[in-house]
Amino acid sequence: MKKDNIIIANWKTLVPTVAAAKKLLTAYSKLPSRARSRIVICPPFPLLPMVVAAKLRTGSQTVSGAPSGSTTGRVSAELLASLKVKYAIVGHSEERANGTTSKMVQEQILQALEWGITPIVCVGEKNRSGSNPFAELEEMVMQTFSGLNKSHVENCILAYEPLWAIGAGATRPATSHEAQEAILFCKKLLVMKLLPGKNVTIRSVYGGSVDESNAAEFLQTHDIDGLLVGRASTNPAQFAQLVSLL
Ligand code: PGA
Repeated sequence: MKKDNIIIANWKTLVPTVAAAKKLLTAYSKLPSRARSRIVICPPFPLLPMVVAAKLRTGSQTVSGAPSGSTTGRVSAELLASLKVKYAIVGHSEERANGTTSKMVQEQILQALEWGITPIVCVGEKNRSGSNPFAELEEMVMQTFSGLNKSHVENCILAYEPLWAIGAGATRPATSHEAQEAILFCKKLLVMKLLPGKNVTIRSVYGGSVDESNAAEFLQTHDIDGLLVGRASTNPAQFAQLVSLL
């Protein structure tokens, strides 16, 4: 396996209580230290300190696009940074479905970067069919990243998460070929359309119905530097098998 792969665990609200989170972290504590150093755990906000205390790399599931101030209900990047949160998922489709636009995602990216937090920027299409299957993905990538500079982009992780492959309503996971094709498409947009001549590179992960049966295939794929795992990250046995591939 490539030595720089990472696995990002998106707990969503699948770990519903403090007691359940403690139990899951106890299971994670038994993972080999090599695996523990290569995973990023993204729990709901109230559980962040618990994950930091477990000495695991920690990420939030979203972040405010505004600085600390009069923004009721939001959590600022400054506060997250002070909690030692190092990553933030932004633009997850479950957030975009609630009204988060690409413009808002870009504000979140900028806030995160300002406070030294690595944004994990989710993009993905609802459907992949018709004469221009990547039209939706192209619009999302262009709107999310346009105006950002090389350093901004290189400090992000791009997460390709096709909607048809994510969560309980998924039809099926993408194949590693489909994931690679879409990630390459996004990279080309960044390199050729958004930042031409800047020789920009970006780390990329795939997410959507990843489990222990298909993870190896993605991790061996050129252009894929890791995985964003939802449901399987909250099942200790499945997650242990997954991270043993790192
Ligand atoms: P899933 O979720 O692994 O449960 O499909 C992935 C994600 O939504 O990040």
